[in-house]
Amino acid sequence: MLKGKKIIVGITGSIAAYKAAYLCRLLIKKGAEVQVVITPTGKEFITPVTLSALTQKPVLGEFFTANDGIWHSHVDLGLWADLMMIAPATASTIGKMANGIADNLLITTYLSMKAPIFIAPAMDLDMYAHPSTRANLEKLESYGNRIIEPTEGMLASRLEGKGRMEEPDKIVECIEAFFKRQNQLSQKKVLITAGPTYEKLDPIRYIGNYSSGKMGFALAESCAGRGAEVFLIAGPVQLKIHHPNIRRIDVNSADEMMDETLRIFPHADAGILCAAVADYKPANYSAEKLKRTDESLKINLIPNPDIAAKLGEIKRADQILAGFALETENEMQNALGKLQKKRLDFIVVNSLRDPGAGFQTDTNKIRILTAKGENTDFPLKPKCEVAEDIVDVLYGFWK
Ligand code: C5P
Repeated sequence: MLKGKKIIVGITGSIAAYKAAYLCRLLIKKGAEVQVVITPTGKEFITPVTLSALTQKPVLGEFFTANDGIWHSHVDLGLWADLMMIAPATASTIGKMANGIADNLLITTYLSMKAPIFIAPAMDLDMYAHPSTRANLEKLESYGNRIIEPTEGMLASRLEGKGRMEEPDKIVECIEAFFKRQNQLSQKKVLITAGPTYEKLDPIRYIGNYSSGKMGFALAESCAGRGAEVFLIAGPVQLKIHHPNIRRIDVNSADEMMDETLRIFPHADAGILCAAVADYKPANYSAEKLKRTDESLKINLIPNPDIAAKLGEIKRADQILAGFALETENEMQNALGKLQKKRLDFIVVNSLRDPGAGFQTDTNKIRILTAKGENTDFPLKPKCEVAEDIVDVLYGFWK
């Protein structure tokens, strides 16, 4: 999988720098070509001799070689690499990357990088939890960089907590998974619906739900990351998209979502319907604000269109359609009913009874049922990883 891949390993000044030697060794064993770029403090933790012996390349740490003045072009490095992996990444380097403080070769290389970038932080638990580190990592994610979360355990300070750099074999697994998925969907157009819908009552109020849109946005990033052209039809959410291959279309109500979905679906190879569409809308919209009275207020609600069922009806044989079932009881029975009624190819089931699953959370626990009768259970995971599992199933239909 890594044969011939050109990987830059960026090493910074952390006690975890010793693990970078194992990382380089594993990558080389898998057939990758590795170029180490190290920060000045990184060299205090691991000697370049070890790293150059392992990689059979000079370790780059300065803008110029002192004795002959040869320039180490960060621009050329940015063009050469298939992937940059910064491991370990200290709070200081993360801060510099987030803010473009280009005072060493690693940061200038980072800023010139054309290839995907992975970051494996390593630091003390309090430094990792600090709002400054959190904000910097969020910024890096918003630039499209991928963070390999540190693990919990004994830290160099002897304190226990989250901050240990992920183990080299796990980092290599992430890199391999990335290359495996990289161009899987390059010829595909995928439509995704996400978030809630708001059904207007008057100019001030609406009927809505707690959907955050996180799952649908994670799906959009996953599909785009694998080369698909993504049309993301989003209800009102506070989220941002990162990947340039995602075209976002913002809507408010179920009717608007239906119109946009019907417009795009005929051009799509697949639809993943993740939105929590309101089942009902007010029968009448009041152009003026509804006034408070001492009487009880009755609002007449009428059904919204079922977007999934409509797409199931018009779906061509070459199109794949997936839906979600968020349930509070009889999960399997309800999900199977929806799979059949809406003519879906697969349905992702999650239950509000599972802690960490459902709306607003950053994690989810899912089961996937296919129309062919397959039934796969997945453990609780961050939504971005759940998205990868779902898109793996989608890709399975085209393999
Ligand atoms: O019937 P229920 O709302 O539970 O079905 C959930 C699935 O159907 C989800 O995939 C959701 O996005 C989709 N749906 C829809 N239009 C609706 C209601 C649900 O697309 N009006």
